[in-house]
Amino acid sequence: MDFFEVLQGRKTTNGPFDPRAVSQAHQHALMEAASRAPSHFNSQPWRFVLIEDKTTISKVAQVAGASMEKLIHDGLFFERYRPYFRFSQKELEARGDGIHFDQLPGPLKPFAKQVMSPTGVGIMRNLGVPRMLGRDNHDLVAGSPLLMGVLLDKEEYKPGKLSGFYSVFGMGAAMENIWLTTHALGMGIQFISTPMEIPEMWQQLVTLLRVPDNLELMAIYRLGYAKEGNRRPSIDWSSRHRKKLSQYVYRESCDSPESDTDLSPQPAAHGIPRR
Ligand SMILES: Cc1cc2nc3c(=O)[nH]c(=O)nc-3n(C[C@H](O)[C@H](O)[C@H](O)COP(=O)(O)O)c2cc1C
Repeated sequence: MDFFEVLQGRKTTNGPFDPRAVSQAHQHALMEAASRAPSHFNSQPWRFVLIEDKTTISKVAQVAGASMEKLIHDGLFFERYRPYFRFSQKELEARGDGIHFDQLPGPLKPFAKQVMSPTGVGIMRNLGVPRMLGRDNHDLVAGSPLLMGVLLDKEEYKPGKLSGFYSVFGMGAAMENIWLTTHALGMGIQFISTPMEIPEMWQQLVTLLRVPDNLELMAIYRLGYAKEGNRRPSIDWSSRHRKKLSQYVYRESCDSPESDTDLSPQPAAHGIPRR
């Protein structure tokens, strides 16, 4: 696959994966891709734990589902993430960021904007939405053939110190390499973020994965081979929308936004100029 096709095709997988196991060759290709990322002084502070054991996957799924249910039930999810929800195509296109919040369960549709308010949270509880979203989240994780924990070496990861920032920066680069490689291999990937929101839940995963004291568990992902024809879920984490150049690039100083006029050489078929 051409590099720019991979770049443009990379995405977050919202739906179920094909249940077949990810080959060891592909798992190692993902790890090799991670190791190619830049890191401060070539320190390579990232570590990974690959999980295929069904019992462990099922325990992670229980924690993820219970975390999602609690976050929705307590209203924390919408309180924290309200700024990222876009309620119309028009709003999405004008801003070019955030995620489209248009896939609410049927009975909630008339209350789309109110779901962020205390009244909305009450309505959701009455309709059993927390349990439903918790179950969806559980099932997605439980049905994934591969989970991956991302860790940092605490010798390098020192929050508040420059090496702490560098480590996170390098881990981001390694993760992007993995993310791109999943696409090239016909796979998909999704963050399992809900347990991170609740310290006790995160601690359960740290214990389950037997994370030693010298490592910090930073994130968990689910992976598998992509499956066609998935329906969009209630909360669609993936978005093709992006800001325009003038919304995130400046020229010479931060006083002058870059112009959106495209003066670049003939773009490639998929929109990225080759030169
Ligand atoms: C730091 C970070 C946190 C994210 N958190 C979540 C998450 O909690 N759940 C999820 O499914 N996707 C998560 N994502 C993926 C984003 O929602 C996604 O990248 C964004 O909407 C753009 O969609 P795309 O990846 O399909 O291009 C996260 C991505 C990053 C880099």
